[in-house]
Order: sequence, then C-alpha cells, then structure tokens
Amino acid sequence: MADTTLMDKLVSLCKRRGFVFQSSEIYGGLGSVWDYGPLGVALKKNVKDRWWSAMVQARDDIEGLDAAILMHPRVWEASGHVAGFTDPLVDCRQCKNRFRADDPRIKGTPGQPDAQCPVCGTRGSLTEARLFNLMFKTFMGPVEESAAVVYLRPETAQGIYVNYLNVLQSSRQRMPFGIAQIGKAFRNEITPGNFIFRTREFEQMEMQFFVEPGTDAEWFERWREWRMEWHRSLGLDPAKLQWHQHAGSELAHYAKAAFDIQYQFPFGWQEIEGIHNRGDFDLGRHQEYSGKKLEYFDQAQNQRYLPYIVETSAGADRVTLTLLVDAYREEQVEGETRVVLGLLPSLAPIKAGVFPLVKKDGMPEVATRLYHDLRKQFACFYDESGAIGRRYRRMDEAGTPFGITVDGDTLSGGTVTARHRDTMQQERVGMDRVAEYIRERL
Ligand code: GAP
Repeated sequence: MADTTLMDKLVSLCKRRGFVFQSSEIYGGLGSVWDYGPLGVALKKNVKDRWWSAMVQARDDIEGLDAAILMHPRVWEASGHVAGFTDPLVDCRQCKNRFRADDPRIKGTPGQPDAQCPVCGTRGSLTEARLFNLMFKTFMGPVEESAAVVYLRPETAQGIYVNYLNVLQSSRQRMPFGIAQIGKAFRNEITPGNFIFRTREFEQMEMQFFVEPGTDAEWFERWREWRMEWHRSLGLDPAKLQWHQHAGSELAHYAKAAFDIQYQFPFGWQEIEGIHNRGDFDLGRHQEYSGKKLEYFDQAQNQRYLPYIVETSAGADRVTLTLLVDAYREEQVEGETRVVLGLLPSLAPIKAGVFPLVKKDGMPEVATRLYHDLRKQFACFYDESGAIGRRYRRMDEAGTPFGITVDGDTLSGGTVTARHRDTMQQERVGMDRVAEYIRERL
C-alpha cells in the first residue's frame, strides 16, 4: 500500500466512523483545524487519561494543574515567544501566496530575480524572507488596541512556570518535583498538514520537573527512558519509534539539550514528544520580568537556588494519530477486504459491541438488557441493524476488541458468543460472566 494512500484511507475511515471531522465542514472547512467525533473524543480521552494516570496518579512527586489559556502578555515577552517564536516567510507578489522561506518547492533564492513561486510559477515575484510570529493575537476587554493585546498560548508550559511557587507551597512538595498539565495550545502554523499531525489548535500533555542544578542531566536521562517506555506501553510497533537528538542549531531558544521521540509515519519519521533540559532559562526570565523571587529554599542543605527544569512535552492529537496509523490494517477475508483498527483494548473507544443475532425471538430484549448491564462498566455499543457480519465489520473499523452476540443458544443455554476483533475467533461465554470476561482481557 502506498504511504499516501494509507493516510487517505485513514482520513476517510475517521470521517466514516466518527473519529475526526474537518472543522466547519459545511462552510468549506477551516485550514488545519479538526473536530473530534464520538469515537475520536473517546480515543483521545483514553490517551490523556493514560498519560495523567502515569504522570500524576501513579507518582508522589508530580502535581496536576489546569492553568488558563489566556495569560498576562508579559509572560510571552519573558518566555522569548514575542521575540523568537517566528518562522521566516516569503510572499509571492503575483499570486499573493505565502511560504516558509525554506519551502523545498521554491527554486532559487527568495528576493532574487531567479526565484520562482512554487504555486504560480512566476520568476522574481518572491519577496525576501521576513519573520512572522506564530502566536495568535486577540484583544482583552472592549477596546481593540495594542495595550489590550493578549495571546492564545502557544505552549501550556508557561502556565506551569508562573504557578510553580503556588503549587510548591500549597502541595508542600520538595525538590525534585513536577507539575503536569493537559490543555489546548495554538500556533499559526504556516505549513500545517498531514491531517491532525500539525494543526493550528491542538492539545499538549506537558510535565515540568523542577530539580536542583547539577542533577538535571541525570533527571533528563531518567525522563527520556520513562517517556519512551510510556509510548511503547501504548502497543505501538517498537521498530517505528526512535530518538532524534537536536543538534546545536536545532535547539529551541530555551533548551540546553533536547531529544524528540519520533514515530515512523507514512510521511516520514516525525516528532511525537520532546524531552527538553530547559536549565534555569524559564524561571530566570520570569524572575527578571516579574520582579518576583522564584528561588527555592532547600532547608536540608540550607541553601537557595533557582531550580532547573526538565520538560516532557507530548501532543495528545499526535499521539492519537500515531495510534490510528499504527493500528490500521487491511486483510482479505473470504474475498472481501476487512479493515481493522488493532488498538490496544484498553485504549479502544468502545470495548464491546452487543448484538442480537436476529431481530426476533426475544433476542433484542435479552441483548438490550446485557448492553445496559455492561455499559455501567465499559463503553459499549448496541447494534441490531443489518447482517451480523456487517455489524462485526463496523466494530472492527472502530477498533472494538469484543463482539458479544445473543443467539438461540443464549435463550436456551444462557451463553453468548464472544468474538475477538483480531483473530475473529468466537467462543461461548456464560451471560453472567461477560463483564468479567471483558475486564480480564482489557
Ligand atoms: N513546551 C515545549 C513545546 O511546546 P514543541 O516541541 O514545540 O515543544 C511539543 O511541542 C509537542 O507538542 C510536539 O512533540 C507535538 O506532539 C505537539 N505539537 C507541537 N506543535 C503542534 C501542532 N502544530 N499540531 C499538533 N501538535 C503539535
């Protein structure tokens, strides 16, 4: 299967089954903004819950936070985003399109007569590169003037830095400790694309770990290991995960060291999470810009210091896309193509489909009762329309690991058929054991 074909097929499945829709589709869509449908929102929630459980619930040394998207505009001056969160762009004077200056489709040097626009093909129409800030601006209050400008946050991290003392003091944590947050971020990306891989509105799952200076390199290595382990635990093909170390020129303005966890997408190896050693850049800058002391007093050692920060930053949408790409497969079954999302059962949006074999003989009533019973514990789906084979196929495409069918033997013998998504094998299970049966296999 050609790689681009796989992405096209995935986009189409996501729409057909209700994972992801184009934003404002009836108005022609909004560039690189996507909406999650019933199955997509459930899948992404499972990703976020799993992250939260590993990062906050399972640890004594990390606290949760939900900071606001809008922040004081000085935050973004201190963070370096106002001055440095930019991409060099060129405009075509002829067709009015705008490109990144390093767009590989541009022939020649922008600003020079030989440069050729990749869209309209005109020579000499491209301007010299100009810096363009990726933050979305809006206005706070009734007056649209420069004094009222606020930004939609381009990363969730800054909400953690400005709250670090509040969390430290209220939770009575000690160094080293972390703060974790899941939330929306916005970037006016110039070359967005590849479905939900790079979008203008997305969700980040970020954790900032505050440590004593000098211990940062050690913590950085630990977090690298733990985060890779977490991605492997999602059931991803380990051969499609790798590290990418940022060379000096690639490093973000705040980073002393950075590694990306990359996944091999159909469009190449790409970042799904960044692990950064941010040193004391962020707290140092916020201390300077706010005029407030942000040092930590270490009682045991009787010393003050500005903590260093090790950051782990993953995109919830990117991890969701990774799961979808990794799980998608096609098989030939009895001359027909079966599309399956082989998601890890615990991540699947629906855990079990419940079906009456036929719509008569009391089967729908028994199946409905079973469905109402099961949905108290698991996300389930009831379906009585169409041939049973088609109902199974619909659930295969949704990634549902179990199909539970009420048939003639249920009425006489009290057992149902449990069908497995991956093997398509079926076995008989007592009606009263179905919940336990599913739970054991999640
Ligand atoms: N606080 C550090 C930070 O934001 P980043 O490497 O710019 O670092 C971290 O972003 C993660 O956020 C990325 O690995 C990716 O998963 C996600 N991300 C960044 N930009 C994105 C976009 N435009 N669309 C979707 N996800 C994005």
